[in-house]
Amino acid sequence: MTDLAAAWTQLEAAAQAARARRIADLFKTEPDRLDRLSVEAPELLLDLSKQPWSLAEAKIALALARAGGIEAARERQFAGEAVNPSEDRAALHMALRAPKGAAFQAKGQPVSAEIDATREGMAALAAAVRSGEKRGATGQAFKAIVHIGIGGSDFGPRLVWEALRPLSPQIELRFAANVDPADMALALDGLDPASTLVVVVSKTFTTQETIANALVARAWLRAALGQAGDAHLLAVSAAPDVAQAFGVPADQIFGFRDWVGGRYSVWSAVGLSCVIALGAEAFEAFLAGGRAMDDHFRAAPLEANAPVLLALAHIFNRDGLGRPTRAVVPYAQRLRLLPNFLQQLEMESNGKQVDIHGRPVARATAAAVFGDAGTNVQHAFFQLMHQGADIIPLDIIAVAEAAEGEPSNQTKLLANAIAQAEALMVGKPESEVRAELAGQGMDAAAIDVLAPQKTFHGDRPSSFILLQRLTPGALGALIALYEHKTFVEGALWEINSFDQWGVELGKTLATRILGELEGGPRGAHDPSTERLVSRLKA
Ligand code: F6P
Repeated sequence: MTDLAAAWTQLEAAAQAARARRIADLFKTEPDRLDRLSVEAPELLLDLSKQPWSLAEAKIALALARAGGIEAARERQFAGEAVNPSEDRAALHMALRAPKGAAFQAKGQPVSAEIDATREGMAALAAAVRSGEKRGATGQAFKAIVHIGIGGSDFGPRLVWEALRPLSPQIELRFAANVDPADMALALDGLDPASTLVVVVSKTFTTQETIANALVARAWLRAALGQAGDAHLLAVSAAPDVAQAFGVPADQIFGFRDWVGGRYSVWSAVGLSCVIALGAEAFEAFLAGGRAMDDHFRAAPLEANAPVLLALAHIFNRDGLGRPTRAVVPYAQRLRLLPNFLQQLEMESNGKQVDIHGRPVARATAAAVFGDAGTNVQHAFFQLMHQGADIIPLDIIAVAEAAEGEPSNQTKLLANAIAQAEALMVGKPESEVRAELAGQGMDAAAIDVLAPQKTFHGDRPSSFILLQRLTPGALGALIALYEHKTFVEGALWEINSFDQWGVELGKTLATRILGELEGGPRGAHDPSTERLVSRLKA
């Protein structure tokens, strides 16, 4: 048995002990639990003390991380080695948020000078648009941007904008991702082409949805402005020649390299719309927050390393206790898109059952992630979180100081965040419910029926992440925390976190069926598919 296999066996055995014990009781037997399972990382406090592991079991999880060679894997990634072997690529998004003048290399090739130049180019463009120096085809200043992209070319910028957008932005930023025609119709509605920039973001510049939407936007610009409308097109792509062939002026195309994975690309030129709409200074602060988390990830010992511990807590639940889902609830309206972002980050990265050597993975990998903003979700899926048949670990993200709005509402929001974590863990025993009902004068037979229904078994785990304020830096640190967490999990599962072969089959079949819906030759299908094609054929 390898060291890693033995460490997995130990973790799985250790987790069994957690089933026979309550999390809340661990605070009584482990007086230093809170300190030992809390980390002050850049821009945030991470509290993992409400997770089901004892201190001894957390140590076993750390031994797993060591046996899995996490430190060496991390250094290989930062050194720009091909940690994405199925595509023979580095995964070097950290280079995008490095200080200017850094010396990152991807597979031995220097990359930092090019990154710095792109960042400067984006900042110059943003300044020119914001000052009105750069104007549209009819001389109007730009008032709006329509950002077109999907997946990694959408989730990150959309999250950044929602999190950081000013209340009355100088430049309105809208997003269109879905090929559903309603999405573009809504994005363009009410905008004046003469004062609108269209930013088309696609690493490949071949993605069906993005190209379809870019064609709609280009036609919309040309209908109002003629061929001069193309001057309102910007592109961000790792295939700049394809973007140019589409009609985007060469000096309005911003590049990034194939070692930037889509779901890790928000730090690259993919963030261009945000650079323009928020200003380059805010975007630089966002990068600096991510960088601070990189430094922490590289320097902090594993037992005080926030991404490592967050990953291990997840693994303890997923592999040790067999929990297939996880909820993520930001108690911050501005972070309501974080769960969507994490769905791609975690599930596209680690939703795999074959390892990096082509062998079946011996255990469960990424959990299904879902969530939305608190307190809204308390009125949606929290009934199940508290009393449902499955135990669903929860990440709570809270922000201490509100940036806007009524301060007393912020206090209520925080009270709810804290209370839910406590309620999930502590629960409400049947004895207490019975005493309460008896106190209200209920008869014994009625209590027998009602008390079990009002009982909360508790012992439901959560991680608590607390930001002081939702600054660009804090947002950067939060996203980088989850990126590194995802990397650690992938490394321990020995899977490639940076490819996504699982999205290909659906794309191929959609292309084939599109041909059939448009009147092309019919292919062979199962009877259900066949009937749907027949019914929806033009
Ligand atoms: O969803 C599949 C995917 O390939 C993602 O990995 C990627 O983020 C997205 O499509 C968009 O790809 P592109 O940026 O090339 O348009």
